[in-house]
Amino acid sequence: MGECEPRGEGESVSEVELAYQVGQTVEVTVADVAQGGWCVARLEGLPVIFVRHALPGERVVARVTEVTSRFARADATEVLEASADRVEPPCPQAHPGGCGGCDWQHASLPAQRALKGAVIAQQLRRVAGLDLDREITVEPLPGDEPAESGLGWRTRVQFAVRPDGLAGLRAHRSHEVIDIGDCPIAHPAIRDLGLLDYSWEGAGTVEAAAGSTEPADLFRAAPPDDPAQPDDPAQPDHSAQPGHPAIPVHQDRVVILTKAGRAPRGRRAPGSAPGRGAARDERGRDARVRSDDRAVEPFPQEAVDSVEAEAVLIRSAHRLTPVRGRQYLTQFAAGRHWQVNAGGFWQVHPAAADTLSEAVVAALEPKPGDTALDLYAGAGLFAGVLAPLVGADGSVTAVESDAAAVRDARANLDVYPWVRVHRNDVALAVADPGLPQARLVVADPPRAGLAREVVDYLTGGSGAERFAYVSCDPATLARDLGLLIAGGWRVDRLRAFDAFPMTHHVECVVTLSR
Ligand SMILES: C[S@@+](CC[C@H](N)C(=O)[O-])C[C@H]1O[C@@H](n2cnc3c(N)ncnc32)[C@H](O)[C@@H]1O
Repeated sequence: MGECEPRGEGESVSEVELAYQVGQTVEVTVADVAQGGWCVARLEGLPVIFVRHALPGERVVARVTEVTSRFARADATEVLEASADRVEPPCPQAHPGGCGGCDWQHASLPAQRALKGAVIAQQLRRVAGLDLDREITVEPLPGDEPAESGLGWRTRVQFAVRPDGLAGLRAHRSHEVIDIGDCPIAHPAIRDLGLLDYSWEGAGTVEAAAGSTEPADLFRAAPPDDPAQPDDPAQPDHSAQPGHPAIPVHQDRVVILTKAGRAPRGRRAPGSAPGRGAARDERGRDARVRSDDRAVEPFPQEAVDSVEAEAVLIRSAHRLTPVRGRQYLTQFAAGRHWQVNAGGFWQVHPAAADTLSEAVVAALEPKPGDTALDLYAGAGLFAGVLAPLVGADGSVTAVESDAAAVRDARANLDVYPWVRVHRNDVALAVADPGLPQARLVVADPPRAGLAREVVDYLTGGSGAERFAYVSCDPATLARDLGLLIAGGWRVDRLRAFDAFPMTHHVECVVTLSR
């Protein structure tokens, strides 16, 4: 039972609730890492505590933040014995009570990858009964080497907006919007928009996404000590300013706003503090002045007019309405350009689409004349890299449920007449006898993992011989691999990629055959 849930009549107090109270501090030695950016700690004879801001092996003082019927959650507020892997978080907002966006800012990048590898191995062992008999190496993506910063990679960020118009990120497991001032994991193309300097009063969220018209290595921010000369004709004109990382010339950026549900103008919700240095203008409205004395603009007109994005759109009830600019981004991956709806799915790390599509091709080993199926196809990335390899004598079928993504996939793949894009729920598509048989299957589902119908299709009479499973969630991956193995599939290879540095998220590509 969570601390806010009312206790039913006759319901007894659990062992955890007897042992811990929110706000209490305990001194613990931290044991293993757990899924979700937590570490596990056990006080002798007491139920388990999941601790954030800690690392395995550390002795910490932890403040209890939540008590459920089975376990407690806590933040490490003081480190008594630090791990050798501990570093000063590069983001000043990454601390207990601060921004909840990152989980592992306090660990070195190699340690973050080791923690993610340990979580994958743990999930495979516990949930799928699969012991890979070796450590799982989480590979850095190109661009995070040699810079090795783990920063500046996020090409889509959604900020929450407080009723007073200030945009920020939420605290961990909380609705509280933290005034972060800056987000160092955001790509420079996004940071450069200065979204956090505007007032977005009346908006519920403000989201920015950046496209790329160049290969990922050019799109990446140059490290601060990059020796590249701005005048070097061989280098793109990054128009870098002192103190700012270089950003590419060819910008393609969208800002997407959602309206706040309830945001009475001129009144602040209870408990929400004013933006840095709030003031009132002659009409009694907030004329917010930031700490640098720069007046910020009210939502929507001024902010929308001033923000230097190539497009601004409003999202309402699953519809995107352009205020100005185009409705889609251009992305560059696998040696070509892709059209992606402004609100649609695309890998957020600039090097991820390249890396994952190479891994999928390596997993499936497509040959001319092969038949392939791309499930959860998005804008058609994997279908698009498989299509030229199977050639006109082969065929590729892509299945995607989102109408805008299907439009993108059809536009992106129309150069290959042997590719068909079906708009359908994959659970229905795999039960449709009209779905072409495929020897090769790739699936890249959302975090919830494969629909049970997809597992049944693959373990039943689908005729598939090789399967590439692209997963962003080790827990649902492990669940599905357990079912696939029980249904006759064999795991040949598992690769893991650090596509989300500083966070607990990790991307896996598993090769299966039967
Ligand atoms: C993780 S994205 C992968 C997209 C693509 N493979 C890529 O790498 O760009 C998952 C995609 O699955 C789609 N999707 C989610 N649930 C679905 C379902 N039940 N049936 C079909 N598509 C679905 C989403 O719209 C999204 O485009």
